[in-house]
Amino acid sequence: MSGKSKILIIGATGYIGKFIVEASAKSGHPTFALVRESTLSNPAKSKIIESFKNYGITFIHGDLYDHGSLVKAIKQVDVVISTVGHGQLADQVKIIAAIKEAGNVKRFFPSEFGNDVDRVHAVEPAKTAFGIKAQIRRAIEAEGIPYTYVSSNFFSGYFLPSLSQPGATAPPRDKVVILGDGNPKAIYNKEDDIATYTIKAVDDPRTLNKILYIRPAGNIYSFNELVSLWEKKIGKTLERTYVPEEQVLKNIQGILVRHDENLVIDKFYVVLILFFVVAEAPVPLNVILSIGHSVYVKGDHTNFEIEPSFGVEASELYPDVKYTTVDEFLNQFV
Ligand SMILES: NC(=O)c1ccc[n+]([C@@H]2O[C@H](COP(=O)([O-])OP(=O)(O)OC[C@H]3O[C@@H](n4cnc5c(N)ncnc54)[C@H](OP(=O)(O)O)[C@@H]3O)[C@@H](O)[C@H]2O)c1
Repeated sequence: MSGKSKILIIGATGYIGKFIVEASAKSGHPTFALVRESTLSNPAKSKIIESFKNYGITFIHGDLYDHGSLVKAIKQVDVVISTVGHGQLADQVKIIAAIKEAGNVKRFFPSEFGNDVDRVHAVEPAKTAFGIKAQIRRAIEAEGIPYTYVSSNFFSGYFLPSLSQPGATAPPRDKVVILGDGNPKAIYNKEDDIATYTIKAVDDPRTLNKILYIRPAGNIYSFNELVSLWEKKIGKTLERTYVPEEQVLKNIQGILVRHDENLVIDKFYVVLILFFVVAEAPVPLNVILSIGHSVYVKGDHTNFEIEPSFGVEASELYPDVKYTTVDEFLNQFV
């Protein structure tokens, strides 16, 4: 066939998984999706399944909790990419066991696609969530499985349409709430670009046993800079409300102080709760809040240098990829 690695995606029909499947197929990799029977007959997933068929994806029936099905699926491919969600992260030990048994895998990408979990300054409950991903890293390394960890930072489609103002359906035009002092730099990457970089890394020896950071220069913004960029686009100045770290931490712990001066903050978090209740695959609210603390207050996307001993940067490795910048992404909301 194409000489390109055969790729199996576990979690293919999930939020980021479907972008990875598409990028894999488009780049000519024979692409396989592990899908549960219940997903194939789920009307909510029919559009995704249909698009996979159009891309010529090979469906493999299986389940993370069915060891035999995992081994059988993995034996058919060269590379395994896991994009399982929050609830299944710890159970990726089952994929590791299946990869060991199958014995043919050239590269494993565990479900990461966020912060570099070995370099975070998170409080609970994000600390535990990041810790689970870190434990999976240690298990992969202990088994000697060749790997790439994709640190994609924030998904643009998750955070930019509301400018991280949960509950909003468009970026704000009057007021904006900013966690901390708004100065640490965060990184926002469009999901298609994350998928493109991930697939480029699959057969690249430079990404073997490395963390692939997606840190393109055009996507790195402090919150203050992000708000200024948006203000320039709409020709308006927003009223900025800064939430000091101490208050952010109290809110994470569920302590909403109901003094008059905190009313705006209270309202903000009520809206936030509503937002994540209606989300498709709800992640616990405190996990989201504490990830916000890690990124916006502690600066965990950018507060360390990428050393060649452990990492490589995607836009440097693949300068040919024309990624969508934050500036361009925001234009659709003006
Ligand atoms: N950086 C960011 O901004 C950001 C944002 C969100 C997520 N993430 C990260 O991205 C990764 C993927 O998250 P996501 O939100 O894309 O996940 P998701 O939408 O929850 O998708 C999970 C996938 O796993 C599949 N799955 C669930 N149980 C399974 C089982 N027993 N056997 C086989 N497959 C099973 C689901 O199948 P069905 O389709 O049948 O349900 C779905 O395809 C996570 O590591 C998460 O932390 C990062």
